[in-house]
Amino acid sequence: MTKHVSPVPQDQTFRAEVLSGLKADRKFLSSKWLYDDVGSHLFEAITELDAYYPTRTEFTILKENARQYARLPGARGAMVELGSGSSRKTDLLLGTFQDLSVYMPVDISANHLKEAGERVRRAYPSLAVIPVTADFTQPLGNLPLLPELPVLVFFPGSTIGNFERSEAAALLQRIRDAMPGASMIVGVDRPKSEDILVTAYDDPAGITAAFNQNLLQRINRELGASIDLQSFTHKAIWNAAESRVEMHLVSLKDQDVEIGGETISFRQDETIHTENSHKYDEKAFAEIADEGGWRILGQDTDKDGLFSVYTLQAV
Ligand code: TRP
Repeated sequence: MTKHVSPVPQDQTFRAEVLSGLKADRKFLSSKWLYDDVGSHLFEAITELDAYYPTRTEFTILKENARQYARLPGARGAMVELGSGSSRKTDLLLGTFQDLSVYMPVDISANHLKEAGERVRRAYPSLAVIPVTADFTQPLGNLPLLPELPVLVFFPGSTIGNFERSEAAALLQRIRDAMPGASMIVGVDRPKSEDILVTAYDDPAGITAAFNQNLLQRINRELGASIDLQSFTHKAIWNAAESRVEMHLVSLKDQDVEIGGETISFRQDETIHTENSHKYDEKAFAEIADEGGWRILGQDTDKDGLFSVYTLQAV
């Protein structure tokens, strides 16, 4: 059974947030809406692309350091995975943490969670698997954890980079408040050449474009809109000043679109900003961790220095 703790977005929230984002001066939609069932599956496909280096690079780092991570206190207690993404990374850690007793995947997509939970239950019959549907951009509330069990938070995929800097620190603080004394393994993507970055977020096979466009299809499906998908195109840009890749949907013409009973106007070349993916070097991430109330225990990287995995301790 899946537990629901913090509010999971319902239709009304989706409608209200879509409309307010599209009425803003600079149109935006929160990236959490990308992950409906279709979006979650498209994202899995992204993680397997050659162009998308983060998943395989993070996997390699985790593999090289898993035995060391097994010494974190929480590796003998409960592992709470935020935004349970790629199953390969999870399996790697679960296979190494022989003394783990609880696995708690937390995700916004209930179906995605259900599949992940069932898979882990079959593979690790002695593990207590407790999937939790939650939107961790909201207060984390009371996760069903036993106070005496040490907790290890697993926060992979550089999802932390999808928040604004101040939001990232606030999120780390909420995690610490929800799980006092926890340790954490967190994946953080690093700055690198613009070429590599833009290709990772605008892959030649067009899967990332489809993932971004699915948000428009979702609006059509769930809000009875009739957005012409051909009239929007995917764009990824490197914003050096903010050290982030930005994803946009660009309107190819002036157009009016009916969404949830309201009319939204687009000018040609106007964009909907759908995602940020911040890239942090050690100094930048250390500031965020510090502000969020976590001490850095260590930092591991790959031989090319593309990606970092940090271990943290709540202070
Ligand atoms: N956390 C991932 C990242 O920032 C999410 C992601 C990868 C993503 N590709 C994307 C989000 C494309 C939106 C669009 O790398």
